Amino acid sequence: MPSSFMTRVFSLAHRVVFQEVGNKIPTNALKTLMDLGFIVFEKMGVKFPAISNIYLRFYESVVQQEAMLAQVSKGDSVLVIGSGSLPATPILIARYTDAHIVSIDRDPQAVKASTEYIRRIHLDDRLTIAYGEGLTYPAKDFSAVFILYGVKNTQAVLASLPDRISDHCRVILRLMSDKNHQLLDDLDITSYFTIKKQVHTTVLGSFEALLLEKKTT
Ligand SMILES: C[S@@+](CC[C@H](N)C(=O)[O-])C[C@H]1O[C@@H](n2cnc3c(N)ncnc32)[C@H](O)[C@@H]1O
Repeated sequence: MPSSFMTRVFSLAHRVVFQEVGNKIPTNALKTLMDLGFIVFEKMGVKFPAISNIYLRFYESVVQQEAMLAQVSKGDSVLVIGSGSLPATPILIARYTDAHIVSIDRDPQAVKASTEYIRRIHLDDRLTIAYGEGLTYPAKDFSAVFILYGVKNTQAVLASLPDRISDHCRVILRLMSDKNHQLLDDLDITSYFTIKKQVHTTVLGSFEALLLEKKTT
């Protein structure tokens, strides 16, 4: 399939799924369609550079804002939870900030595909993909942790994270929201973290990025 044709098809799919649908959903009703959209893009993207380039472009402004929110810079060591097959977020954090990044996924196939992809784009000196579960992965040595949209057991990850991170670790949590910036998931965040700041983004659909700091007693 010629890449210009694929580019047009996937650009259209992006507009329909993530922007038209993603910014209108008032409830969880169409979340499933969007989740399917992410999966298709990632599986196709690791195989076809034309698609991975489009996919990465969707994420650019979102990741840029999140990296600024957490003030990630070269000296930081960042843990990303939930790389996926096409680890757009960790790739862009690495490109924008020069930080050292470890990105984990609990799906061995996603780890294999993304490791090969990172090697192909010559980012493996700064971005390490590892097999790991966000619920238990040791995170004391990281100055920032990103919990991506699509991570399962988010509530349990949030509850267990404070014991695994240092006091001043910056945590970014990306969640789907409605047009009034209300989170779609019913999560208890404030028992564990203080919400320091919040940014609303619309490129991937309606999302909030929350900057969290763990509560110390
Ligand atoms: C978080 S999304 C992918 C994010 C996207 N590639 C990006 O760059 O923003 C889906 C991935 O998260 C992984 N995942 C879901 N829950 C997880 C958990 N608790 N720990 C580790 N990985 C998880 C899934 O296996 C899946 O590959």
